[in-house]
Amino acid sequence: MTRHDRPTVPRGFSTRAIKASTAAPRVDQQPNSVPIYQAVTFSSEDAEELGAISTGQRPGYSYARLANPTGDALAAAMAELEDAEAGAVFSSGMAAIHAALLSVLEAGDRVVATRAIYGSTRTLLTERFGRLGIDVAFVDATNPAAVDAALAARPTRVLYVETISNPTIVVADLAILAGLAQRNGALLIVDNTFASPVLCQPLALGADLVIESLTKYVGGHSDTLGGSVCGSRERIALVKAVEVDTGATLAPFAAFLVLRGIATLDVRMARHAQTSRALAEWLEAQPGVARVYHPDLPSHPQHAVAARQFPHASGMLAFELAGGRAAGGAFIDALTIPERTASLGSIHTIVAHPPTTTHRQLSDAELAEAGIGAGLLRCSVGLEDLDDLVADFAQALEAARAAAAAAAGPAGSAPAADSLAVGAG
Ligand SMILES: Cc1ncc(COP(=O)(O)O)c(C=O)c1O
Repeated sequence: MTRHDRPTVPRGFSTRAIKASTAAPRVDQQPNSVPIYQAVTFSSEDAEELGAISTGQRPGYSYARLANPTGDALAAAMAELEDAEAGAVFSSGMAAIHAALLSVLEAGDRVVATRAIYGSTRTLLTERFGRLGIDVAFVDATNPAAVDAALAARPTRVLYVETISNPTIVVADLAILAGLAQRNGALLIVDNTFASPVLCQPLALGADLVIESLTKYVGGHSDTLGGSVCGSRERIALVKAVEVDTGATLAPFAAFLVLRGIATLDVRMARHAQTSRALAEWLEAQPGVARVYHPDLPSHPQHAVAARQFPHASGMLAFELAGGRAAGGAFIDALTIPERTASLGSIHTIVAHPPTTTHRQLSDAELAEAGIGAGLLRCSVGLEDLDDLVADFAQALEAARAAAAAAAGPAGSAPAADSLAVGAG
């Protein structure tokens, strides 16, 4: 009981209603899930305690932008999964990326980043940080000599890469990149979103900070945004300071949803891997599918790196239809199970065709320059039954063949029929 609980004079209805409806019970027994601490303010016994908590001189809670118990439980869980000393969680993956970069960059600094990078991260670096006098160079992160040359060209503060990235499920060799960063005096920051901590712990391979968009595999259910940054205690203290001053704090209910996702992350990732691999192998055997990109396939350019770095694949694959833009658009329109939307790493299978959606303004030549074929589809394989996905993809491939043939025009100007033929099997 605190001194506030002992009224000495009768109180009015409103005062009693406020006190009565916000009196949180003290619970001695340990709850078996993390409660949603839906509170912005936490009261202290006296001014001395509040002052010490607010300035970080002693642990505790005062104001939820600074810290909230549900968010702290998630930050501790992420640190555990990433094999890190400490973690911080954010309102989205982009907020986490922003805080990680802002915690280390100063005006005049230089960043070398992978060319295969998430679009908003690219514009955060070029537009937002670019305006503040930070120089950014993009490089093919699968080419160690090119990365070394880019890092050596000028003093560089950060090497920024994604463990697995678009558009063709590119896999970065993190141990090699960590060695190059260290040799050139740069910090290695890794976005591990496509892999999740189940497949890869970048800190153990030499990264300085690891970021996850918790919106994807870790949350896993397409029902909350979130982000995390993990690393050493000293580095996370700087990241956390950015969070406090910019306010991209994760809401307690969102933290609860991500914690719930973490409990099943390992088994979900195993199922994502199993289904995506089987679907990739099936797709590779279909006529009209020009190319399939999945790290488990020996044809994948970084197959050996993935086999060494990951215990198994994620749910991500990409494939190129021979029929180009028309075939790709028809394919996603014909699907009945996968959702036509953005995002990845969900219970739902999500198929994207950048040339008719996010990149529709680009010509085929411009797409090729960005490494995107006109018939390229990206697929985040969900947790649905494999047989149902195969049947749905088979009928969508038929629709793709018909659309490609129609777009090719009258016989004679059309490509050879068997180069477009897609089987239903
Ligand atoms: C690799 C990667 N990193 C970061 C993000 C950003 O995450 P969020 O949407 O949670 O901000 C995304 C979003 O798609 C992503 O694909």
